[in-house]
Amino acid sequence: NSKITIAIDGFSSTGKSTVAKQLAKSLGYVYVDTGAMYRAVAFYAMSHGFIDGNHFDKSGLIENLGRINISFKFNEALGFAEVYLNGVNIEKQIRTLEVSGFVSTVAAVSEVRHKLVEQQQQMGKDKGLVMDGRDIGTVVFPDAELKLFMTASAETRAQRRYKELIDRGDEVVYDEVLKNVQERDYIDTHREDSPLVKADDAIEIDNSNMTLEEQFKVILDLVNKAL
Ligand code: C5P
Repeated sequence: NSKITIAIDGFSSTGKSTVAKQLAKSLGYVYVDTGAMYRAVAFYAMSHGFIDGNHFDKSGLIENLGRINISFKFNEALGFAEVYLNGVNIEKQIRTLEVSGFVSTVAAVSEVRHKLVEQQQQMGKDKGLVMDGRDIGTVVFPDAELKLFMTASAETRAQRRYKELIDRGDEVVYDEVLKNVQERDYIDTHREDSPLVKADDAIEIDNSNMTLEEQFKVILDLVNKAL
């Protein structure tokens, strides 16, 4: 049984990472959260003064891309890999609404995408990998054996993200979470470089009205057919 590459793309908060983690675990594959990598760059930009209020010093960030080293380290207790920026675990810091507010702007920069896509392709060169993001089936691994495209209504997704943030103890307002989801959808689908789009050969899964179990069953069937 040879290993395959599984690419999972879709809008924000469609539950891509939940499915991807579960799949990787059951297949004994590596899971890579590419959104965490873009979030790490956004976090770097915010903490190094390249984003100040609404001003984004794009060329400053581009000049400093060489100083950004992103890595993943498996956390046994959590059962998945956490993201590190220059050796520091930033898993918690990158999930805030503040980072979510800037990440799509940073992710629209071609130089940023180029750097991260190269690293992602390197991580997947031996296959046996589940990777989620926005451009995995279209740009990073156009030859992936299985491509999924996840969708759900913006309200369903905002509701899920809101619950996640509240459960972590963040003080957020539902309307702001919904606004962020809609803004990211817009920027991600309208950017010039690698816009979010379903690959022709991707299988679309709308999980607005599916439980996690139902969804996982459908996807596992697809995986078994692709193996
Ligand atoms: O998946 P997550 O919501 O954490 O991704 C955060 C943001 O990173 C997305 O809204 C998108 O702007 C960007 N992203 C991207 N390409 C990817 C993964 C994420 O542009 N492959």
